[in-house]
Amino acid sequence: MNHFEYRDGVLHAEGVSVPDIAAATGTPFYCYSSATLERHYEVFSQAFKGQKARICYAIKANSNLAVIRTLARLGAGADVVSEGELRRALAAGVPASKIVFSGVAKTDAEIAFALDVGIDQFNVESEPELDAISRVAAGMGKTARVALRVNPDVDAKTHEKIATGKAENKFGISWRRAPAVYAHARTLPGIEISGIDVHIGSQLTDLEPFSTAFTRVGEMVEALRADGHNITRIDLGGGLGIPYRGDNDLPPHPDEYAAMVKRTLGHLDCELTFEPGRLIAGNAGILVTRVIYEKVGDDRTFLIVDAGMNDLIRPTLYDAFHEIRPVAEPAPGAEEVEYDVVGPVCETGDTFARKRRLPRLKAGDLVAVMSAGAYGAVQASEYNTRPLVPEILVRGEHFAEVRARPSYDAMLRQDIMPDWLSD
Ligand code: LLP
Repeated sequence: MNHFEYRDGVLHAEGVSVPDIAAATGTPFYCYSSATLERHYEVFSQAFKGQKARICYAIKANSNLAVIRTLARLGAGADVVSEGELRRALAAGVPASKIVFSGVAKTDAEIAFALDVGIDQFNVESEPELDAISRVAAGMGKTARVALRVNPDVDAKTHEKIATGKAENKFGISWRRAPAVYAHARTLPGIEISGIDVHIGSQLTDLEPFSTAFTRVGEMVEALRADGHNITRIDLGGGLGIPYRGDNDLPPHPDEYAAMVKRTLGHLDCELTFEPGRLIAGNAGILVTRVIYEKVGDDRTFLIVDAGMNDLIRPTLYDAFHEIRPVAEPAPGAEEVEYDVVGPVCETGDTFARKRRLPRLKAGDLVAVMSAGAYGAVQASEYNTRPLVPEILVRGEHFAEVRARPSYDAMLRQDIMPDWLSD
């Protein structure tokens, strides 16, 4: 469910017409709906009513400060994976006491910064990282609360580039080695073990891999408790998938996910942390782009738009499907054309959709790439020296630019000419 709908034949974001934003901002741009962000947060949060659960929004999905603040106002904590994300969470108003720090390899500097601002928990991904956190914390006279991220060796049945829970993946500590690492952690200064953490991948559309992993985690909690560890917290990561093809491929509802969590882990009476990213932001954003040319080739017809793979890399990187909607609502029975929707970047991979049936479009028309609120703007680059896409946040009848398009001068000023070339 989202708040991007046709009204009077024109795509709207809540109460704002998309062409109005395009006229003010130019194209391409990302557009986010506050009501959708809030709704997704509330649906997830309601699903866990009655369980001891907190939501730490995975900042990596969409780290615009205005998006984070919208969620922070509802009580969301944050899951961060770098000092930069930690600084964003704090700047947007997430209290340090609601921040968990995940990520494969935290540096000494990042650990020190996180201890300094007083984050709630480190999710530790390896033995050397555990030792580093101990060394830095002890050196600062502080105690780091840690959960060990275990790798349960479970196939998440998602795209291989976003699966993280198999033994072959770089993430987490092997569940077989975990008892020994917990025993080691207990001997370390500056470390307080509070829990266990798991995250097996992203865009999971089946509950079975979750339930296999969570059952394994539950067994580990019991074994660790029997070894004398005081395990009171379980962090279950993120990963619940979203519909990318409208209502035709609905993944499990958060209520079903919550029931599965209760079934697998409810008996342990632990405090639960969830790190949803995509589920909250994915369908709360669209990428709006303008048709530059319709190009009729020998083999197919290309719809060339002004957004490219540098703006939204998901189709290129993960073969991701994104629905594409004309901003002007097609008349019933309008002629359809099979298009390859491509961007202007000089790579064949710069393709948003192949053989997509759309009403006939022409230069100047606006189209919306749907479900682009998560892992869209955050993965954008300036490849081909294209300015980073601006971001717009809508609330009811209002919209605001929450990140401006940089000027070409500003972009070029980032490079510095060395002495020997500045004449
Ligand atoms: N927690 C941890 C430790 C993670 O690594 C991730 C995502 C999340 C939470 C949030 O997962 P979510 O609820 O969003 O599935 N760029 C890729 C997705 C990468 C996900 C990375 N980790 C994409 O566009 O599909």
